Amino acid sequence: MRPDVLLIGPYPAWDMEPLETADRVHRYYEAADKKTFVAEHSGLIRAIATRGELGANAELIASLPKLEIIACYGVGTDAIDLSATRARNIKVTNTPDVLTEDVADIAIGLMISVARQIPQADRYVRDGKWSKANMPLVTRFHGKRLGIIGMGRVGAAVAKRAAAFGMTIAYHSRSQHAGLPYQSCGSIAALATQSDFLVATLTGGAATSRLINAAVFEALGPEGYFINVARGSVVDEPALLDALRSRKIKGAGLDVFWNEPNIDPGFLELDNTVLQPHHASGTVETRKAMGKLVRDNLEAHFAGRPPPTEVP
Ligand code: 8YV
Repeated sequence: MRPDVLLIGPYPAWDMEPLETADRVHRYYEAADKKTFVAEHSGLIRAIATRGELGANAELIASLPKLEIIACYGVGTDAIDLSATRARNIKVTNTPDVLTEDVADIAIGLMISVARQIPQADRYVRDGKWSKANMPLVTRFHGKRLGIIGMGRVGAAVAKRAAAFGMTIAYHSRSQHAGLPYQSCGSIAALATQSDFLVATLTGGAATSRLINAAVFEALGPEGYFINVARGSVVDEPALLDALRSRKIKGAGLDVFWNEPNIDPGFLELDNTVLQPHHASGTVETRKAMGKLVRDNLEAHFAGRPPPTEVP
């Protein structure tokens, strides 16, 4: 008998097929009346398959008495109510490692894009401005001072790349990282003070909510750039918008926001930002690996084996 899985949001077609072969998939996102849909299937559902930004809240978890496992397509589990899963011993799995390098690529890409103004340069050529005058000069990237907030897998992968660009690397992290060849800073504001580029790679959730605030942007200063490939929640977004508008900082490269995908329209009016639609892990290669890991976790669980990437 195939186990019943509640699928919160769609996966790419190449994942849907094998998932539907292995499991009986109930498409939550297609239901017009979600409460009734869940109530109708609540006696069957043994697993939730979700995505990082969609998660699973306490109300949904409480409405599924047979729930055993939540498999997340994404490394961040901040949108899953982990106190509700722990209270009922429901397993949670995520997709670490397979997306690290892509997210680090985008962090570097956003830094170069915002400093060298690649989107603006593209528009400059397309708008026919080049034949009239040369584009104004931009800011150098290599050799600058990089501050990394959070020194997990993504932070370490950003640092590795930044070293090849001759950057001076420092970081702030809640956990100890003995033996790292980078300077550790006691606070985010202290890190910002000594950074030209400040990159957020920390985990989202209540513990890190709005840690990057007006004081941090003040410390980063008018020549500094802020990059976020973590979660919108780690930033005080009105403070960021204010810092960008009033040029308290020079610019920002942002992959994540509050209220995705309906982001604050204020971002769209700014010329000192490069925006991405939460797409740092969005390559075919990585997304295929993420989908496979979701299925491997479900398969292992239902075969009575430990899921390969269970969240501790
Ligand atoms: C994905 C993510 O964009 O890994 C995460 O935590 O947010 C991303 O990789 C997302 O989960 C895909 O829907």
